[in-house]
Formats: sequence, structure tokens, C-alpha cells
Amino acid sequence: MKKLLVTGASGFLGWNLCQIAQSEWQVYGTYCSQPIEISGVSVQKVDLTNFQAMKHLFQAIQPDTIIHTAAQSSPNFCQSNPEASHLINVTAACNLAGLCADASIPCVFTSTDLVFNGLNSPYQETDPVCPINLYGEQKVLAELGMLARYPRTAVCRMPLMFGIAPPTATSFMQPFIQILKAGKDLSLFTDEFRTPVSGKTAAQGLLLALEKVQGYIHLGGKERLSRYDFGRLLVETLELPATGLKACQQKDVKMAAPRPPDVSLNSSKAFALGYTPLSIREELQALKGLV
Ligand SMILES: NC(=O)c1ccc[n+]([C@@H]2O[C@H](COP(=O)([O-])OP(=O)(O)OC[C@H]3O[C@@H](n4cnc5c(N)ncnc54)[C@H](OP(=O)(O)O)[C@@H]3O)[C@@H](O)[C@H]2O)c1
Repeated sequence: MKKLLVTGASGFLGWNLCQIAQSEWQVYGTYCSQPIEISGVSVQKVDLTNFQAMKHLFQAIQPDTIIHTAAQSSPNFCQSNPEASHLINVTAACNLAGLCADASIPCVFTSTDLVFNGLNSPYQETDPVCPINLYGEQKVLAELGMLARYPRTAVCRMPLMFGIAPPTATSFMQPFIQILKAGKDLSLFTDEFRTPVSGKTAAQGLLLALEKVQGYIHLGGKERLSRYDFGRLLVETLELPATGLKACQQKDVKMAAPRPPDVSLNSSKAFALGYTPLSIREELQALKGLV
């Protein structure tokens, strides 16, 4: 089997990717601060902001391909910690593309729907970027920097993701479930729209991009819905107590990073390549008993 290196294997998406990639690849993963063991995957600790350590990793594994999911993925953290987050979100990503270019191996990058301002959705790959928070700006810089160093990079713009998470990570749905089960109030935005997919579906999209994409691709789901509507579907499909679910608006909550209202992605290019997200209801039903 050929060797696939997954950066960020202790994170939500990287872990999901490690689960499904094993059938086709010999998978190597990295973590940084949260040690993890993944059955069938050789995992090692690497701080990717250390270029020497990154180079050493390449030399030791000699991967045939890379999917880079490691990042500082919290927009609020990035807004409050611009320098630290720039190092992993921009500098490390560009360095990684440089090493992939040197080795002439495929490189897949996980960007975000937050490269858009949310005023002109649904967004396709050719639409101009216009981030409104620092995390989105950093992802744009990484996209451009990686493609400049290595035009063969597949830049995958990921939507909001949910699903099974390892002990070292979380998706937004786990806290939702805990709050509702505890009988507490869960206020969700009625005016923030995305095109979510499960981590498993997103991981399948990344593997597809690895085979078929150079340049930009959107890996959103087929449905546009608000966080509140997602909460309603969650309650219904997982049979959770509904009494705590409340509607609110973005303006009701103060956050470090500004949030765009609607970054729904038009992912028809990926659908045409064979990317087939299920409906959110089907995705949630498949997670019943597992989250
Ligand atoms: N989750 C979403 O809904 C969403 C939406 C759009 C785009 N994305 C993008 O998708 C990718 C994966 O997101 P995620 O939710 O899986 O993120 P996550 O759960 O926060 O995981 C981030 C991963 O990056 C690793 N990491 C952080 N700093 C590092 C460093 N200096 N060196 C090496 N590794 C480092 C973490 O390792 P440790 O934990 O071991 O330190 C962890 O494995 C990211 O690029 C994110 O920006 C996510």
C-alpha cells in the first residue's frame, strides 16, 4: 500500500480521515499536544510550526501523499492570538506545500467556507474571497501561499462539520447533545447558515480530491440550513429533550471573531466528481447511538 500522511490525526477531521483511509492506504498521522492512538495508524508527535521537525517527518516517512488537516481551527482563538495562529495556519501550511513540491507528491489542504463574507451565497470556487475574521484571512493566505509554491495542491474548502470525534477533539454537536441532555438551554442562531456534512463524508471528499483535484474545490453538503434548524433535526433524529432548544440571533452573542451570516457552499463541482453527501437527516440517523 502507498503511504498517506494525515496531519492533525488527533483532531476531529484528521481522526475521521484516518478511520476511512486505512482500507486504501498505509496511514501515518501526526498530533501536536494531545497524544492519541489510532488502531492501524502509525501516529507521531510533531509540532508543524517547527520546520526542521516537519522536514524530519518527511524524511522519516517518505509519504506518497499528504492531507493537511492540522490547524488552529477556532476562529475566536485566532482572532485573539494572531501570531501563534498564523504560524500553524499559514506558515506551516506553506512550508508543507513546499516539501510536497520538492518530493512531487499530491498535497491536499483543508481550507474553510469562512474565506467568504456570507453576503452572496451559495459560493462557488470562482467567487472572490472576502473573509471577515482573522481565521478566514489566514486560510486565504495559506490557500494562495500553497498554490504559489505548489500549483498541484488541492485546496478543499470545508463546511461546518459534525459527527463522531476522538477523545482529543470535538465537533460542535457533542456539546449541543450534552447541554440538551442536562436539561439546560441551548440557544442557536436562526440567522447563520451553512452547508454542513459529517466528518466521515468530509473525509471521503478529501480522498476524492486527492485523486481528482488540483486547485480549489468546495466540499459542502447538499442542504443549506441554520444552526437552529440543525438543532431541531438533531433533537428529532437522536430523540433528545427539545425543551432547552431556543432560537437566537448572531447579534445576541458577543464573540471575539465576527461571523458571516451565510457561507453556504455550492459544491456542484465536487458532486460531479462523485462526492455524494447524504441529507443531514440521514447523516444524523447514521450517527444514532455513536455520538
Ligand atoms: N471543524 C469544522 O467544522 C471545520 C470547518 C471548516 C474548516 N475546517 C478546517 O478543517 C481542518 C480540520 O479541522 P478540525 O475541526 O478537525 O480541527 P481540530 O479538531 O481543532 O484539530 C486540529 C488538529 O491540528 C493539530 N495542530 C494544531 N496545532 C498544531 C501544530 N502546531 N503542529 C501540529 N499539529 C497541530 C491538533 O493537534 P493537537 O490537538 O494534538 O494539538 C489537531 O490534531 C482545519 O484545517 C480546519 O481549519 C474545520
